[in-house]
Amino acid sequence: MESTSKPQQGAPAIPVYVIMVALISALSGLLFGYDTGVISGAILLIRDQFHLSPFMQEVVVSAVLLGAVLGTCTAGYLGNKYGRRKTILAAAVIFAIGGIGTALAPDAVTLAAGRVFLGLAIGVASCIAPLYISEVSPDRIRGALVFLFQLAITVGILAAYLVDYALVEIAGGWRWMLGLSFVPAFILWIGMLVMPESPRWLVSQNRLEEAKAILTRLRGNQPVRLELEEIQNSFETQKRERMGWRNLFGSRLRMPLFIGLGLAIFQQITGINTVIYYAPMILESAGFNSASMAVLGTAGVGLVNVLATILSVFLVDRMGRRPLLMIGIAGMIVSMGMIGWVFQTPLDSTFLSWFATGSLMLYVASFAISLGPVFWLIISEIYPLAVRAQAISIVTVVEWSANFVVSMTFLSLVEWLGHASTFWLYGLISIAAWLFVFYVVPETRGRSLEDIEKDWLEAETSVSLPAGALEA
Ligand code: BGC
Repeated sequence: MESTSKPQQGAPAIPVYVIMVALISALSGLLFGYDTGVISGAILLIRDQFHLSPFMQEVVVSAVLLGAVLGTCTAGYLGNKYGRRKTILAAAVIFAIGGIGTALAPDAVTLAAGRVFLGLAIGVASCIAPLYISEVSPDRIRGALVFLFQLAITVGILAAYLVDYALVEIAGGWRWMLGLSFVPAFILWIGMLVMPESPRWLVSQNRLEEAKAILTRLRGNQPVRLELEEIQNSFETQKRERMGWRNLFGSRLRMPLFIGLGLAIFQQITGINTVIYYAPMILESAGFNSASMAVLGTAGVGLVNVLATILSVFLVDRMGRRPLLMIGIAGMIVSMGMIGWVFQTPLDSTFLSWFATGSLMLYVASFAISLGPVFWLIISEIYPLAVRAQAISIVTVVEWSANFVVSMTFLSLVEWLGHASTFWLYGLISIAAWLFVFYVVPETRGRSLEDIEKDWLEAETSVSLPAGALEA
């Protein structure tokens, strides 16, 4: 008999098994967060050891993003051909080898190459893990379970900040910083060995008996006939219509593609990673004279990121995706305005430094309940099964490319426009993001993936749906 958590007012109990499946696969998010975040501290030691020029520092830092772009390009193909589970297993192996390999790198070029390799796993995992979680989840808690992926990203980033802080004074400490990622990678690998395949992928391979057995276990031995039939029927329709990745650019799927790409671009160009990657530098410029205060402030920002994401896990299936997006992005607009204001006032005071820290925290918290997790969730929900993996692949390629561009241009923008105008620019872009959500992004709370895909498949022409058209 499956163990289940307490039932809520007449609703069937939530099987503990499905929560465990989501938690294990969300470890890929932890590795994503750790491996992207750890370099901010490690680079200080690497720079000194290998006498790196600013250009080579940039190469070492951004190599992982380049790898992630390459990884996402192949993820859709792999996820469809070999299944979601095997693809995450392969990513775990790359995470483990990449972690150890970069820790042992004899020179900067090998290190950069190792970071590209590691990036492949980050790209693949960022594409397939949320998709896998979404496909195994019961509809009414799908939001919360996919949000665990983002929660894991934020825990990974915080862990990276703390490990950096603990090891930054130790000679060669960077090797430990990078090598430690082997531990979660190994756990992910072991865990995925015993996790089930996505029942939806199995249906797409015509392996119906296996799909039924796994779905039954995921639903705590409740009857799954209706759910399975819905998945099967929906997939059969897509097969009859010979739906393939080319359809993504056709009239019916143009809208979900537009939504995914829009969210991907806005998630990045509203500036989150200028804060995640450069927080100590921003805090120093805002008046903290000691590096340790700046690092402490950064750890605080990392902690707020985790706490706000935890809050959002509880809110997403109660409030829905759109309200979280609209409230959170409004907070991002206000806080970017505040950060810009700090840099623009001529006063130099401790109050202003703390005000800047508070504004960064408000900004990160606002992102953490909105564009952060909701992006990964919506893209795992809105595409029809036949093209889901490819669609997410395309969208995440764009997301990682936008990340790369923003991270590479932030310092130059600050030099060119100054701090205040740069942050105000991100604030203005956030206003555009808010409008995009308001007019274009649908509500998907509580609906089955098959029900959501029907909206696109039944649309006869490429109409632009009014906001809320998909509301339950
Ligand atoms: C974004 C990352 C970002 C992280 C911050 C993720 O959703 O994709 O680029 O660093 O959130 O928590």
